[in-house]
Amino acid sequence: MLDLDAASIVESITTSEISISGRLVDASNATLFGTVSSETGEHEIPIIYKPIAGERPLWDFPDGDLASREVAAYEINKYLSFNIVPFTTLRDGPYGIGAVQQWIEIDESFDLIAFSQTDDPRLREIALFDAVINNTDRKIGHLLMDAEHNLFGIDHGVSLHSENKLRTVLWQWRGMNFTEIEVVKLKKFISERERITVSLANLITEMEIAALFARVTSLISAGSFPEPNGEWPAIPWPPI
Ligand SMILES: Nc1ncnc2c1ncn2[C@@H]1O[C@H](COP(=O)(O)OP(=O)(O)O)[C@@H](O)[C@H]1O
Ligand SMILES: [Mg+2]
Repeated sequence: MLDLDAASIVESITTSEISISGRLVDASNATLFGTVSSETGEHEIPIIYKPIAGERPLWDFPDGDLASREVAAYEINKYLSFNIVPFTTLRDGPYGIGAVQQWIEIDESFDLIAFSQTDDPRLREIALFDAVINNTDRKIGHLLMDAEHNLFGIDHGVSLHSENKLRTVLWQWRGMNFTEIEVVKLKKFISERERITVSLANLITEMEIAALFARVTSLISAGSFPEPNGEWPAIPWPPI
């Protein structure tokens, strides 16, 4: 873990020059690994940079770009008072505007496959987050466990579509009632609609923002986690 406070990490990832040091070969789009310098210049903060120019077009996500969806997902995570998504921002970089996200150093020895099927409350929070953002790609590889055993969720480029397309490996809470705290979080999200709409307006379409609030409203009235709808493949492939 970096010996820097969260605010200064955010500041550096937002404003410092990006140095690219590699490309992630298993990524489906141009996903670059790099660093930014801390404000004092004493630390290198690892980041992942996904330039919009390197995106492959997708038939089912024709509007906008994936980088903006990643940033929108980060913003929504913040409005829900979750700490699931590592800090993510849209900014210029060596290959143009893209999503820049803090890189999480993972615990390589941790068995995420077994963990992902448990009823750990941190996974439950991610399952709720995915229902809100309509995530189509919650694979095990999009869960990260760091050395201090904080759990993160990444790769939200294919989320926030206006039609329901939830695809996840986290179905263990399907049909189960929300806790009171979960309902309070969802209701608070609805009550902040105006502010949230402004912050998402340049990231996703008006229709997608309307669909986001409609999803949250119907989650509140259902009072429970969604179930697979039977039309759309419910589990991403490959699931790892
Ligand atoms: N913030 C991050 N911290 C640590 N590893 C990451 C982070 N973002 C991505 N990765 C690693 O890079 C891989 C590819 O990134 P991902 O966001 O899944 O890109 P793609 O959209 O190309 O699938 C991930 O599966 C993960 O192993
Ligand atoms: Mg991925």
